[in-house]
Amino acid sequence: MTATSKPSNMPASNLPAGAIRHGSSIGQPLTRRDGPLKVTGQARFSADNLPPGTLHAALCVARIARGRVTGLDVAAAEAHPGVVAVMRPGHAPALAKDPDAKDGPFTFRLDLLQNDRVRYANQPIAVVIAETLEAATEGARLLAPTYAAETPRIGLDAGAAFTPDSVGVGAPPVETDGDVEAGLAAASRTIAATYETPAQYHNAMEPHAAVASWDGNRLTLFMPTQALAMSQARLAGLFGISPDDIHIESPYLGGGFGSKGVPAGPQVLACMAAKLVGRPVKLVPTRTQMYGPMGHRGPTRQTLRLGADASGKLTALDHHIRTASSSFDDFFEPAGRATSTLYASPAIAIRHEAVRLDTGTPLFMRAPGEATGSVALESALDEMAHELGMDPLEFRLANYAEVEPITGKPFSSKALRDCYRRGAEAFGWAGRPLQPRQTRDKDGFLVGTGMGTATFPALIFEGMARAEIRADGTGTVELGAIDMGQGSWTALAQIAADGLGIGMDALTFRMGSSDLPNAGIAGGSGHTATAGGAVHAAAGDVIRQLAELATNDPASPLYGAGNAGVTAADGRLTRRDDPGRSESFTDILRRAGRSRIEGQGKAGADPAAQASYAMHAHGAVFAEVKVDPDLGQIRVSRLVGAFAAGRVINPRLVRSQYYGGMIWGLSFALHERAEMDPRTGRFLNDNLAEYHVPVNADVPAMEAILVHEDDAVVNNLGVKGVGEIGITGTVGAIANAVWHATGVRVREMPITLDKLLG
Ligand code: MOS
Repeated sequence: MTATSKPSNMPASNLPAGAIRHGSSIGQPLTRRDGPLKVTGQARFSADNLPPGTLHAALCVARIARGRVTGLDVAAAEAHPGVVAVMRPGHAPALAKDPDAKDGPFTFRLDLLQNDRVRYANQPIAVVIAETLEAATEGARLLAPTYAAETPRIGLDAGAAFTPDSVGVGAPPVETDGDVEAGLAAASRTIAATYETPAQYHNAMEPHAAVASWDGNRLTLFMPTQALAMSQARLAGLFGISPDDIHIESPYLGGGFGSKGVPAGPQVLACMAAKLVGRPVKLVPTRTQMYGPMGHRGPTRQTLRLGADASGKLTALDHHIRTASSSFDDFFEPAGRATSTLYASPAIAIRHEAVRLDTGTPLFMRAPGEATGSVALESALDEMAHELGMDPLEFRLANYAEVEPITGKPFSSKALRDCYRRGAEAFGWAGRPLQPRQTRDKDGFLVGTGMGTATFPALIFEGMARAEIRADGTGTVELGAIDMGQGSWTALAQIAADGLGIGMDALTFRMGSSDLPNAGIAGGSGHTATAGGAVHAAAGDVIRQLAELATNDPASPLYGAGNAGVTAADGRLTRRDDPGRSESFTDILRRAGRSRIEGQGKAGADPAAQASYAMHAHGAVFAEVKVDPDLGQIRVSRLVGAFAAGRVINPRLVRSQYYGGMIWGLSFALHERAEMDPRTGRFLNDNLAEYHVPVNADVPAMEAILVHEDDAVVNNLGVKGVGEIGITGTVGAIANAVWHATGVRVREMPITLDKLLG
């Protein structure tokens, strides 16, 4: 491993010009403010909480994928000296709402011991509550369930395909523009290829823990969640109480990847268990128990048909997707989304269909849709470039979308050309052989390079924040924002300090609790736009009030500056038209006899901007791989990504997000695959020993280039999401590099050595 293989050691050498504004906390490459707490073990994760009298709960989960539970040896479990209660169908607190009732796209059906039915492997079928974790675990084992099993439906051919009403969250399953068949008929070259991506499991390091306690009808819950208010609302509905009576603490998450966006069934079971026994209950699922009730990425089979004319312009782009959902709920991997935004073509058709399987319900996972879709799209682009004898980057530039295809909307900003150029330069793309299997390194390994385009929508949700400045010149900003590892504790505080015009050391910043204003969902790579936008607005509200006090006060040097305006920095307001005239927050408040000024702010989508513009982040990823010609072993040796995602709040954290995304891509391309036994529907690798994710030694030298991009439309901060885009170009880039190294085109992810040797 070289020094550059450690993302945290990368020098801050490729900052976009002008990113650091003097005196502003925005744009500074600060380290994570929560870092020292985490490395010293002081950061308190959900499962670290143990209120007095806490009991431990263990799940008993189904060993079949479809059927009924016919028996549980409750007497044996209850006879265990440590066991306090066995919660099971018929012996569980009543719920106010059927957990199978659906009231919105973010409400997912939950298995909460309402009946004896089994809908997927590892579904919870009982909960044993005991004085110790050991007793609970032993008790769960003593239940020794018996079943009436039915033949499970497993795999993309196991059921009749249908067209879902929508894919992702409310996206159309079918999108067409122009005549694809005519475009294919008119093409001088066509390709058709089918790609497969497997079911994948989020595998956040931290399990979906919950420590629940009731005080009458008030619930206190330590639970990792990506969305505090949404979790509150879901639990309030299930327990028939007001959301205000639910207090959720979620200051730190050990990863989410989409799996903690909505409460998982076992987290609700912890609340039910605490209610049943009248004592606090802690429930931490095992790694295996996270394969089933916590969501996953649905598998896909995608057929791409492309036509191009002799000059290399696309004449048709046809993307057909088959994916899967559970037998009982609706989430459909929106794998065609990237195809609707990325390349110009006179004819585009995108069609999703799905089958129903006896698995847990798929869910959002690491660029849901764009990640899976771009595997196929970027591979197909590469195959067509080869067919045309064109450089893959030249082919992409020849089909650059100047406006969003299908909608015809202009982009609010799109610095993708800069990403291609900067990435290609840094990688050394030029002069690469067009034919595969041309290069060997000094050790005889086959060397190949490949590229892919990255794209992810710039999303924003509804969020609110509260801010205040005090007479001593210090300030507070608070909101129910979430840090699942991406750096919100730091980036949002930077926005807060910048907005209030104070230093980071004068700022008290609070988040991660449901008692604070609803800051929306930490998902869809939209949290900085949402929560950051709310923080910016709340701070602006405080400064506006402060400016009103000063500019209307004849004793202030700012008197009469109302029309010219003032700026806030370093704890002072300064006249825009005369930087020599300024006054400290402290003086303004003291003279006004005020101890503090409070402000509110909110963020959300601007419908007019949404109607007029397409808003996406973009990037280009370049990969180099080395393949053992005899054994087929694949190593990614270099990854370079260049990304443009609007304004950079913290270049160190943004770069870290890009590294993370590219490592997810490496994981998708070479490692991850959930294997199920089609006869039983049981997992063959529901553990981290056999479900492979990359370790440090798998991660190559990486470079993430932050490409400058100004966007005055996308939101009040000009930021786009950076959390998920890194995965989208990377998988295709690696797959294309493996082909370039070996001449073997593997269309089924992950690319493993057997597929190269076969
Ligand atoms: Mo992300 S899959 O929106 O948490």
